[in-house]
Amino acid sequence: MINPFSFSGTVADQGFCNRKQEQKDIIDFIQNSENVLLHANRRMGKTSLIYKVFCRLDNDITKLYIDLYGTVSENDFIEALMKNAGQLESRSEKLLKTAKEIFTSSNVSLSIDPVTNLPSLTPVFGSSKNSMLLENAMLLLERYSGKKRMVIVFDEFQEIENYSGGEFEKRLRGFIQKHNRISYIFAGSRQHILASMFNSKGKAFYKLAHSYPLSEIEEDDYIKWIKGLFADKKKISDKLIIKVVNICERHPMYIQQFFYHLWEADLKSPEIIDQTLDLILLRNRNEYMNIWDSLTLNQRKTLKLIAANEGKDLYSADSLKSVSLTTPSQVTKTLQSLTQKDIIQKNGVYKIQDIMFKQWILRL
Ligand SMILES: Nc1ncnc2c1ncn2[C@@H]1O[C@H](COP(=O)(O)OP(=O)(O)OP(=O)(O)O)[C@@H](O)[C@H]1O
Ligand SMILES: [Mg+2]
Repeated sequence: MINPFSFSGTVADQGFCNRKQEQKDIIDFIQNSENVLLHANRRMGKTSLIYKVFCRLDNDITKLYIDLYGTVSENDFIEALMKNAGQLESRSEKLLKTAKEIFTSSNVSLSIDPVTNLPSLTPVFGSSKNSMLLENAMLLLERYSGKKRMVIVFDEFQEIENYSGGEFEKRLRGFIQKHNRISYIFAGSRQHILASMFNSKGKAFYKLAHSYPLSEIEEDDYIKWIKGLFADKKKISDKLIIKVVNICERHPMYIQQFFYHLWEADLKSPEIIDQTLDLILLRNRNEYMNIWDSLTLNQRKTLKLIAANEGKDLYSADSLKSVSLTTPSQVTKTLQSLTQKDIIQKNGVYKIQDIMFKQWILRL
């Protein structure tokens, strides 16, 4: 039997657990052309949820998904957008004709994406008319939204912060605000950057979208889903599932990784959970070592303290002494820098974002 668990890309169909309420909420937002900021830690299931929602949407809504990961400039943004224009219109002649009507002062060329088989547009960047390109690209979206309502997902949206300071954001906001038949979904995992983009009064995207934090999946939903997947394979107890769900702190990717390994394992063996945890930590060791090596000594000490104390009581004399820190101000400063790096976040108490990284630190 094929292992139904997977933890590398996005998941769909039987590999996708629950998220019924989230699907409903996002669909409601889309149908009402509302904008949404979908944010969560790494590997929490943002992109999978978006694809799931896309599959469920009726044909009367045009869907456009754009991954901004790795884009570093306005030109990259426009290129990413236009490359995906085939999602707006699959008839290449028609798409090119519409694009040519809009992009009068610049050139666009058409090709066929070998992966999706959909038409794809490429803008030609001249030196003087570049600022018109964004306007034209946004006009193309507006034009198509006049035919059918639309949802546009900008995944890894925090990337735009790097383009050109606030100037690009201001112009983009101007266009987005006019698009009242388009629901924009801004998704991303660099939460402190996104929070500053959408929650700070002085920023262009201030209150432009409903904030929708994606949290972990509930224990009961995992139990039902995992038992269903194991049903034809072998017996698995609720107790074992709950134990794993707790170790993984309900984080979907690590739960998939854990059960991926348990699929072929002897579940009656008393050491099986510890062994699997060790295996996962070993597999991720290089990644964790790279992060660890990039940190200052005080950052490492503070992480050890957070891991050992579950984020509590970080400033007491005993706590400081336990990791050889001398003053509380060292902790304050380091908490800030670790938050900037998205290694920790404050949710009541400080938590290490990657729960397996925490387990690895606890074993140092
Ligand atoms: N609904 C779900 N049910 C079960 N597993 C899930 C679900 N959503 C996500 N996962 C697990 O989490 C992994 C990451 O999912 P996905 O790529 O959708 O997350 P993401 O938040 O977009 O990640 P990134 O921060 O890297 O963009 C998947 O490979 C899968 O193992
Ligand atoms: Mg993603």
